[in-house]
Amino acid sequence: MSTSPYPLGLRLDGRRVVVVGGGAVATRRVPALLDAGADVLLVAPELTPALRAHVNADRLRWAPRRFTPEDLDGAWLVQVAIDDPAAAESVSVAAAGRRIFCVRADDRTAATAWTPAVTRHGPVTVAVLGGGDPRRAMTVRDAIRDLLAARLVPEGAARTRGATEATGTTEATRGRRSGRVALVGAGPGDPELITVKGWRLLTEADVVVADRLVPGLLLDELRPDVELVDASKIPYGPSRAQEEINQILVDRALAGAFVVRLKGGDPYVFGRGGEELLACAEAGVPVTVVPGVTSSIAAPAAAGIPVTHRGVAHEFTVVSGHLAPDSPASLVRWDALAGLRGTLVILMGLKNLAAITETLIAHGRPPGTLAAVVQEATTGAQRVLRSTLGTVAADLVAAELRPPAVVVVGDVVEALGR
Ligand SMILES: C[S@@+](CC[C@H](N)C(=O)[O-])C[C@H]1O[C@@H](n2cnc3c(N)ncnc32)[C@H](O)[C@@H]1O
Repeated sequence: MSTSPYPLGLRLDGRRVVVVGGGAVATRRVPALLDAGADVLLVAPELTPALRAHVNADRLRWAPRRFTPEDLDGAWLVQVAIDDPAAAESVSVAAAGRRIFCVRADDRTAATAWTPAVTRHGPVTVAVLGGGDPRRAMTVRDAIRDLLAARLVPEGAARTRGATEATGTTEATRGRRSGRVALVGAGPGDPELITVKGWRLLTEADVVVADRLVPGLLLDELRPDVELVDASKIPYGPSRAQEEINQILVDRALAGAFVVRLKGGDPYVFGRGGEELLACAEAGVPVTVVPGVTSSIAAPAAAGIPVTHRGVAHEFTVVSGHLAPDSPASLVRWDALAGLRGTLVILMGLKNLAAITETLIAHGRPPGTLAAVVQEATTGAQRVLRSTLGTVAADLVAAELRPPAVVVVGDVVEALGR
């Protein structure tokens, strides 16, 4: 008798899958079935709160009782997630009688199908079977996932792209034929703070248009054939430079390239991502937006400051300080912000900090309110200054802090201690 399993990728969209059991194992198995579009029937007298949430959201049907063989009528697959061997065996018998594959959490040797350990990377699914030993499968799966995460992907991704071009199924392939843009948030500075999706798209890019504040290490690891456009080196003033960037994105995409526009933090937090999206849309270029970890939350966090904390702050407001409070072009109601009790996070505010703090104090925020400045957060050059609203502007000059930095105002500055 052969012990070799025959691997398959089941396409479960709209197909009935029965899950017997409502405990921890079922809780772990059900999300992937739902993700595959399966029509899940859950048979169990009791459910965990997580499974009940799926029921309440109408994502699956629940039969609140013990299993009966008729539950398998119309099913393509059954997952047994109970630890009562006799009850599990009765499911196996009913499944075998109907020629339905049966996964057994309690006894893999009694199962007619095994679930692999899985790691997903965009369109690629890696599924590992460990010869009946789930621990071995997980160890191998983790090693593969680490390899992919350890950025050995670029060359592999390039090869995969070539290999799959004929099928026309990968995002990169689509990019090849028709061109498109991804606006990707690179996170605040630590290269590990880019999202998994952002990193994957970066490895698939033909052209990368990068901001000044994106982590250099991410760029260091691009494939040699990738065209890297340093957006911070584009001449002209800020608005002409932005037009120029928009044009580069559109031109390269219309020429068939997959362009990643890599931006510091999140593309839509003072990142002009919206303008770039509109420029692409106007030119008929498809755009994907991948949110990033914004410095407005990450920089305080990196300094040990939560932007909210129970009993301390029930709100946080993120504001740009690039214009002085008395500038006619400013859209910020600093007088109103002074009346808030919660956390104020100011980006691009160092130059105008004296005027900003004076305005906040003049409109009622106490000068003794705690404040902090976090420079180059999440990088090896991170510096943190703790102060008060009344003195922070002078203190940062004395400490010679410089941009990029985030200013945090509010009691959260000491919520976790100094
Ligand atoms: C043009 S805004 C872009 C913000 C970005 N889109 C985000 O979500 O973080 C640039 C400002 O973000 C803040 N900033 C970005 N990265 C930072 C970092 N690593 N540490 C401190 N502040 C940072 C600074 O206030 C800087 O002047």
